[in-house]
Amino acid sequence: MTHLIAPSLLSANFLNLQNDIEMINASKADWFHIDVMDGTFVPNISFGFPIIKQIKKSAKKPLDVHLMIVHPENYLETFKEAGADCLSVHYEACDHLDRTINQIKKLGMKAGVVLNPHTNVILLEDVITELDFVCLMSVNPGFGGQKFIENTYSKIKALKKMIISKNSKALIEVDGGVDVNNASKLFDAGADILVAGNAVFGSIDPIKTIEVIKGI
Ligand code: DX5
Ligand code: ZN
Repeated sequence: MTHLIAPSLLSANFLNLQNDIEMINASKADWFHIDVMDGTFVPNISFGFPIIKQIKKSAKKPLDVHLMIVHPENYLETFKEAGADCLSVHYEACDHLDRTINQIKKLGMKAGVVLNPHTNVILLEDVITELDFVCLMSVNPGFGGQKFIENTYSKIKALKKMIISKNSKALIEVDGGVDVNNASKLFDAGADILVAGNAVFGSIDPIKTIEVIKGI
């Protein structure tokens, strides 16, 4: 049973990113979750390649880059060069999802597809065996610190069933509103990777919070 934690740097202190990166390096966290927003796919703009390149220099764990952008297929190679180890694209942003997934893998990154809260998991049935992970958004993407959407539990269960029935190795990531109160219920439902922004960086003791979320 995989229990991975990916703190989201969207909630980190951008005036002292080095400090927060070192905290995650020293913690039990598994991946750095990096949210890229373009102001078109989502109503917010975050950061791009120069920042990711700098993060890569100090990060001692894989970079899990979540693209909330239109036409992600135009930038796959550039994200690889910037340091992405895992790259996820939104189902809702891809006209040729199968091609995009295969290009991500060909570039040597783990390939993930992200579903917005309104997108049914059944739509992944024909690509599920090609995926390294599926990320279920448990908030509407664009901002940190939002309220967790409870319907996510049934989506995790339905996705897990599909993964098992198709003999897929895809892991299930959950992103948005994850905290110390819902983490164990999410793992019990079948989640493998939990992303947490506000819950980690807004806490008094982020290292301890990462352990609590991970169930250590
Ligand atoms: C939201 C982002 C999330 C966000 C999670 O669009 O994809 O990764 O940083 O933040 P919290 O954990 O605060 O909901
Ligand atoms: Zn994210």
